[in-house]
Amino acid sequence: MLKVINVAGARPNFMKVAPIVAAMKRRHAEFQPLLVHTGQHYDEAMSEAFFRDLEMPAPDVYLGIGSASHAEQTAAIMQAFEPVVVKEKPDWVIVVGDVNSTLACALVCVKLGIKVAHVEAGLRSRDRTMPEEINRLLTDQIADLLLTPSEDADANLRGEGIPAERIRFVGNVMIDSLLSQLPRAQQSSARANLGLVDKEYAVLTLHRPSNVDDPTAFVRVIEALSEIARRLPIVFPAHPRTRKMIDELGLTARVEKIKGLLVIDPVGYLDFLQLLSGARLVLTDSGGIQEETTVLGIPCVTLRENTERPITVEMGTNTLAGTDPGNIVAAAFRGLNNPPNASALRIPPLWDGHTADRILEALVAKSEVSTGSGSDRVASSISSRLVR
Ligand code: UD1
Ligand code: UDP
Repeated sequence: MLKVINVAGARPNFMKVAPIVAAMKRRHAEFQPLLVHTGQHYDEAMSEAFFRDLEMPAPDVYLGIGSASHAEQTAAIMQAFEPVVVKEKPDWVIVVGDVNSTLACALVCVKLGIKVAHVEAGLRSRDRTMPEEINRLLTDQIADLLLTPSEDADANLRGEGIPAERIRFVGNVMIDSLLSQLPRAQQSSARANLGLVDKEYAVLTLHRPSNVDDPTAFVRVIEALSEIARRLPIVFPAHPRTRKMIDELGLTARVEKIKGLLVIDPVGYLDFLQLLSGARLVLTDSGGIQEETTVLGIPCVTLRENTERPITVEMGTNTLAGTDPGNIVAAAFRGLNNPPNASALRIPPLWDGHTADRILEALVAKSEVSTGSGSDRVASSISSRLVR
């Protein structure tokens, strides 16, 4: 029996953790899963809504950390997570993605000698101004098992000198949630409630600090949106960071002036999947949405200069447009004028809805090869590392 703590903290973690916890519950003779929610995201629409929509059990432990500076938030998560690990003595801790909760919890484990698996390992934007890139690089250096979504990630890790035995290509677990929840999402009334017509609107999401905390970049994006909104309505579920920055940067009037731009609160997973799957075009700076649009075959214009998910450009429907208004408008109009041909769509290898099963297999295999696994080893490792 493997006791595993699964860590979730922010919106893009929930759809990655849900299939893993569900797979462990199906294999209850072999796995004892626990779910720890750090509380990095805490609004109903950024957290609770996902537990409901993804039919996830309530967290076993809620750390209630909330928002703060990077150092304060990371440190607070570490301080709150350490006693949980010491008490539970898990065989493994699973962290996902690239948020502050991911790095904070991985660091706690490595210092206690507890094995950590990183799901979505190896992605690199090569942009070290992104907080997520630092979280990815550091988490991958210290985790024991690196579970990658695509083979470019394996190559990145090998290029950083990480031994092949720590790396396992398992595919994209986010797509497990997408494929399993899409039929339920189609029952949502979100699109009808907003008065939108299938394939006659665009979806926008925006939350990267490089776009929304920088007034110059934000204004350039707004210029492009004014132009695109003349062609079709754009629904914009605005992230709380973005709402706050629109207000702080004095951009409210400029945003409200754009006819056809419908700013709404963030929506739950099922409502969002319905909006996304019916969109004619998606504009985003999100990581996960670049992947979801690739699988759904929807043109995606990414409002960033780089991506840690190049496979979505090489095989999928993604175009990097940066924040130059001319580039954004041109990429958007190209997407609108040339909708992808369904027969030409390509889905990256192992984005097939079965990644959670492969993650469990990788954990089992890695546990068998490491000697002295089990709670005695874990307890002695923890006690030798705790300084009183
Ligand atoms: C975080 C992740 C980012 C991820 C994004 C997904 C880090 C460094 N960043 O960015 O990688 O793409 O989540 O959404 O981990 N806020 C609320 N309510 C909430 C959550 C946040 O109002 O429930 C507001 C607060 O003002 C907070 C701000 O949003 O200060 C930023 O939240 P934070 O979690 O620090 O970063 P995100 O921008 O959400
Ligand atoms: N998402 C959602 N509601 C929204 C916006 C996004 O359910 O209003 C989902 C989206 O489908 C994807 C995930 O949230 O599964 C992406 O999270 P986000 O963009 O916040 O983070 P990132 O992927 O950039 O780290």
